[in-house]
Amino acid sequence: MTDYRAGLLGKIADRSARVGVIGLGYVGLPLALVFEESGFAVTGFDVDPAKPEALHRGESYIRHIGRERVARAFARGRIEATFDFDRLSGCDAVLVCVPTPLGRHREPDLSYIRTTGDEIARRLRSGQLVVLESTTYPGTTREELLPRFLASGLECGRGFFLAFSPEREDPGNKSFHTQNIPKVVGGMDPASLEVAVALYGAAMARVVPVSSPEVAEAAKILENVFRAVNIALANELKLVLDRMGIDVWEVIDAAKTKPFGFMPFYPGPGLGGHCIPLDPFYLTWKAAEHGVWARFIELAGEINTSMPRHVVERTAYALNRHGKSLRGSKVLVLGLSYKADIDDDRESPSFEIIERLRSAGAEVAYCDPYIPAARPGREHDLRLASVPCTGEEFARHDVLVVSTAHSDFKIANLYADVKLVVDTRNLMASLGLGGPGAAGPEVLRA
Ligand SMILES: NC(=O)c1ccc[n+]([C@@H]2O[C@H](COP(=O)([O-])OP(=O)(O)OC[C@H]3O[C@@H](n4cnc5c(N)ncnc54)[C@H](O)[C@@H]3O)[C@@H](O)[C@H]2O)c1
Repeated sequence: MTDYRAGLLGKIADRSARVGVIGLGYVGLPLALVFEESGFAVTGFDVDPAKPEALHRGESYIRHIGRERVARAFARGRIEATFDFDRLSGCDAVLVCVPTPLGRHREPDLSYIRTTGDEIARRLRSGQLVVLESTTYPGTTREELLPRFLASGLECGRGFFLAFSPEREDPGNKSFHTQNIPKVVGGMDPASLEVAVALYGAAMARVVPVSSPEVAEAAKILENVFRAVNIALANELKLVLDRMGIDVWEVIDAAKTKPFGFMPFYPGPGLGGHCIPLDPFYLTWKAAEHGVWARFIELAGEINTSMPRHVVERTAYALNRHGKSLRGSKVLVLGLSYKADIDDDRESPSFEIIERLRSAGAEVAYCDPYIPAARPGREHDLRLASVPCTGEEFARHDVLVVSTAHSDFKIANLYADVKLVVDTRNLMASLGLGGPGAAGPEVLRA
């Protein structure tokens, strides 16, 4: 009987294994590049034909993944990108990095995982390893992928191998990237774990094996819940301390001098990104199936999702102090991406802030050097292009709302002729603006 486990381990060891990556987005593209850079032949798959085409031209459609890196990899000829899923049968390992959004009622939308599972199942062959990397609730790999693959007649752990390994991308982080972030891996069985650990170990600095896919799935959700809950705590304290006339940012700076048992989280305009605002609700949904309620997560969600409304209320209050109403005022929102110095606008609270300001009658513009034109999405279509990042442009507005602390905004001169700023990121204080007796615009925190 053929020993597919030993065969795959051998191919991984001598780099003759071909690695397939499905979904060439923020997670899949860097992952594909890391395997290529580790000496593997790689095939990237995406349903959006524009992505493979751009990559073959040596272009990067993700700003923090440099064009040079993509061009260098594709010039070496070991990596290819395609929308032809028949090429899956040529891959020894298939890593799935497709989206896991929420549906209209904040329920998990597993349609991308299911479609991809069907595509793989249709072509599954002996000796293949499949790893799900998309963030999801515990049980997804076993409940959604395993039955699809077993239908092929192959046995898991002998004919094919199946694992879950969560991605931990932090776009724009200068110290940690795909290659040096420890990789948690949970296999469906010991053989699946062994081959998955060997594969990631050949490309990543550190692999952390765990006892099951469910533990790996839950570990990722815990990481995101941890952030969502702590950010909610910072946001709630912002509201409480503000009423008491205490500066929450100064409080956090003081507290973080404690050398143990404290980790700073900061308030802001609301949650953004593809993970923190969405993933925790995968767990609350699944928990209900088991008759338990994840109350911390729900409460954190309630607080965090109320922040854009709070920002708009503060803006109305700020204008009112200047004898103006939101209706008819010119408002400039600084930052459309969800965090500083990246071009990712997914789930960014700036969208809701802009829409709420607009529906209150304000004339709203935005400035974001990373996003020259607002892309239409599933929920928003602002039909706006960024105004230039200049002092003259800033001065044309009645109030500026700082939503994202891009480095481009950290130049005090930009605010020389600005009268009023609503700041959700403490950016003005970092420029020495807005303090008691300080020159420059009046600054209200939100
Ligand atoms: N972005 C992050 O920082 C991050 C971090 C950790 C985990 N994750 C998780 O990783 C997964 C992917 O996220 P992302 O940020 O890379 O998303 P993304 O939207 O940037 O990329 C997903 C890609 O998959 C493609 N795609 C969609 N359906 C497909 C299909 N059926 N077959 C092939 N390709 C398909 C899309 O065209 C897109 O290019 C999600 O589960 C997410 O929660 C994301």
